[in-house]
Amino acid sequence: CGIIGFTGKLEAADILVGGLTQLEYRGYDSAGIAVNEGSSTKIIKTAGKVSNLREKVESSEDRSGTCGIGHTRWATHGGVTTANAHPHVAGNITLIHNGIIENYKELAIALKAQGRTPVSETDTEIAALYLDSVYEGDPFAAMKKANEALDGAYGFCIMFKDHPGEIYCMRNSSPLVATSTEDGAFIASDMVALLQYSKDYFVVPEEHIVVMKKDGITLYDMEQNIVSPKMLHVDWDTTAAQKGGYDYFMQKEIYDQPEALTNTVMPRLHNGLADFSADGISDDLFKDISRVIVTACGTAMHAGLVGRHLIESMVRIPVTVELSSEFRYMDPILDEHTLVVIVSQSGETADSLAALRLANERGSKTLSIVNVKGSSIARESDQVLYTHAGPEIAVASTKAFSVQCSGFYLIALKLAELSGKFTEAELSEYCKKFEEAIATVPEVLKMDSYIKDIAEKIKDTFSAFFLGRSLDYAIASEGSLKLKEISYVNSEAYNAGELKHGTISLVTEGVPIIAIATQDHVLPKIMANVEEVKARGAHVIMVTDKDMSDYEGVYDDLIQVPSVDDRFGTFGVTVALQLLAYHVTVFRGNDVDQPRNLAKSVTVE
Ligand code: G6P
Repeated sequence: CGIIGFTGKLEAADILVGGLTQLEYRGYDSAGIAVNEGSSTKIIKTAGKVSNLREKVESSEDRSGTCGIGHTRWATHGGVTTANAHPHVAGNITLIHNGIIENYKELAIALKAQGRTPVSETDTEIAALYLDSVYEGDPFAAMKKANEALDGAYGFCIMFKDHPGEIYCMRNSSPLVATSTEDGAFIASDMVALLQYSKDYFVVPEEHIVVMKKDGITLYDMEQNIVSPKMLHVDWDTTAAQKGGYDYFMQKEIYDQPEALTNTVMPRLHNGLADFSADGISDDLFKDISRVIVTACGTAMHAGLVGRHLIESMVRIPVTVELSSEFRYMDPILDEHTLVVIVSQSGETADSLAALRLANERGSKTLSIVNVKGSSIARESDQVLYTHAGPEIAVASTKAFSVQCSGFYLIALKLAELSGKFTEAELSEYCKKFEEAIATVPEVLKMDSYIKDIAEKIKDTFSAFFLGRSLDYAIASEGSLKLKEISYVNSEAYNAGELKHGTISLVTEGVPIIAIATQDHVLPKIMANVEEVKARGAHVIMVTDKDMSDYEGVYDDLIQVPSVDDRFGTFGVTVALQLLAYHVTVFRGNDVDQPRNLAKSVTVE
């Protein structure tokens, strides 16, 4: 969900709706604002996208006020209805919330006994009712009680009826960032919403309270001591979070990749070696480790699969890749010789954060690969390797994946150096090949309209399968996720060799099979699998950097990306698959940037 709050000299409604538009990628089931002026607080909310809210706000005659809070929702408890949209009101309290109140049912029973009954189905309204039940005129005292009574995750922005013009915010797990300018005080779940007002901000620390007044912002700990915030600076410019002439954010972000890769990789390659000194990561982190566990969700997990392949094949250190939602509950065997790598674009994914905390608790070394500066995962890991993709707005991750993979290429290079098994010339050759592979990305982008024509041929399919072996299975997994999540084509990735153990029964006339082939050592093997599906009438799209002249007739369409060293096959093919998913989706008329039911940043488990 997305949160924004403002109090100051400007009209709040405009700032809130503008901020929610920027934040919509965090959830777009429903949205709402509350605007306060003196003793009156007006609530406007609606199911559906922020554009629905905007219309409602613009047609409202009574929306003026210079203090307010706004929210865009990704439903957890309670369906997508206007009643369930935030803000929620209970007596003196008007509140918005990100996160989940886990003990809301028991709180609801106790509140009901006091005659306090919710009108919505949300856990958030229970928090509002609870706060109102303990509020005796002192916001701090009530928030402290709520902090003790509520289990789960929350970022709250609260307006108390008898404190007009003020907003009280409290954080436990769900992210909040804040800033102030001469126009007033701002808070949001993500800096993207505040970029047009300031590039300097602070991340609200866990279990702290922020008080926003017309003349500024103050950070307190739970004992009401003033804390001086640690200021951060956004290094992207405001246009980074705009579409900049592209039809969709996803399209723009696909095209951002050459720059994102250059910004992430080049400052860390020096004299043929990976150099993390500017990141403050010492080589000690990589010494004396007997295994690596990568944990992440979604696309970030697929980057982990790429990482596993690289590290194992080059450095011979065992690597396992675990979904964070499983890892946190599987009682993992961890010790100080295990390096746990957490991969996350947002740095806020609840399961990945919980996985990191478990690894920290159990004494492993932790390294995160994160895109958002100052995010929870970045702050809580022993070391962080920031990717420099700039803001990623489209729900389907593209440039973040490429730079996460590049992070693993850098880590593999560092581990290779420290292993002592490689000569300087070999390491330097690796760097050269790495740079060459990155340089092919603009070439693949030039194939956009060619790939679009292929996309048109498969646009009406019900299902599709992506095949790969070895490193290509990782790429296939990400390619399939891209297609599935935005086009709604029923798509799966398979290790090509596994196909005949079940899935081939789903291959019928015309079913698209997207086969990835960047690995010489398994090329004949994957091509044998391609023959098998072709024999059953599949529409085969080969995506490869290999010479296919020996295989003509085995495929229907060929996406031939520039040839690179096998280890670096990830980049070009990934971009081709992103373009394929993008175009299929545009042909199908779906909302590319905001696919149904999904959210960009999943801060609930
Ligand atoms: C959501 C997003 C995905 C993302 C995943 C993990 O599902 O829609 O694009 O890969 O979360 O997010 P993270 O921010 O941890 O990389």
